[in-house]
Amino acid sequence: MNDKKEKTVLITGASKGIGRATAEKLVKKGYRVIGTCREPERLKEEDKVQGVLYKRLDLSDEESIKRLLSEIPTVDVLINNAGSSLMGPLEELSQDTIKKLFQINLFGHSIVMQGVLPGMRKQKKGLIINVTSFASRTPVPFSAVYASAKAAMETLSFALNSETRQFGVFVTAVAPVFVKTNIYQEKSCSKESDYYPYYKKVSDMRDAGINNGDSPDIIAKKIVKIMELKKPKMFYAVGRNSRFLHLASRLLPKDVVMKNIRRKFGIDK
Ligand SMILES: NC(=O)c1ccc[n+]([C@@H]2O[C@H](COP(=O)([O-])OP(=O)(O)OC[C@H]3O[C@@H](n4cnc5c(N)ncnc54)[C@H](OP(=O)(O)O)[C@@H]3O)[C@@H](O)[C@H]2O)c1
Repeated sequence: MNDKKEKTVLITGASKGIGRATAEKLVKKGYRVIGTCREPERLKEEDKVQGVLYKRLDLSDEESIKRLLSEIPTVDVLINNAGSSLMGPLEELSQDTIKKLFQINLFGHSIVMQGVLPGMRKQKKGLIINVTSFASRTPVPFSAVYASAKAAMETLSFALNSETRQFGVFVTAVAPVFVKTNIYQEKSCSKESDYYPYYKKVSDMRDAGINNGDSPDIIAKKIVKIMELKKPKMFYAVGRNSRFLHLASRLLPKDVVMKNIRRKFGIDK
């Protein structure tokens, strides 16, 4: 997308992590940036990116989403980045916990997309970037809900892209591997659970993966690069080993991929 000085970008989850790093790069490049978080009034000055217009958005609250949509102008680029994670054995998760995770990572974003699409189609130009996760391709045990919400977002992006590109609106999914952020992970497994020893191992390894992950700047740089393409692809795996992982996940039978994941976590049955 060219003429960036004229472009307005809405990025959800701009208070920290990947969203903040992306907002910073976009402001430097001259985009008009609207960034969201749940409590913009409580953002410390040092955590703000100068030049970003902060707006309140809580994806778990439909009223909050509608309010945001009523307050913003037509946007040229929407980056659905906000999200949170969940680790726990499916058997033990409440329906409320599962629905909440999907609300934040999928349903809420779908309302934001519905809100910006009429304006994008009217101006016959637009880009929606959905920040998913490589977890959708290589789901680890106890991430069933998070990984499937991200997989759903990925599939939604592919189908939506085919619905809207004839109106000049492209949709792409950006799937980071591990990124060093303080992403909120709800952890749900009691020490008494039969699953606990396996869960603990996977959860610790996953935390270590995030702690040793890529800088959010790497994902931000890729997002900005995608925004400057005329015709972005539908899917980008981003981060350390992403090329190899992407290739392996496409070429190997799913049973082999999943067996390798189980081996890695010491679940070899
Ligand atoms: N970190 C990783 O290893 C990794 C890997 C793959 C994919 N991702 C994805 O990358 C995206 C960004 O994650 P991150 O690692 O940068 O995490 P982060 O640093 O925790 O940032 C998450 C952002 O989302 C916002 N947010 C959280 N819950 C929200 C809610 N209910 N409603 C609205 N906004 C909410 C947060 O804002 P407030 O808390 O200030 O409201 C924050 O700005 C997520 O979609 C995540 O799933 C991350």
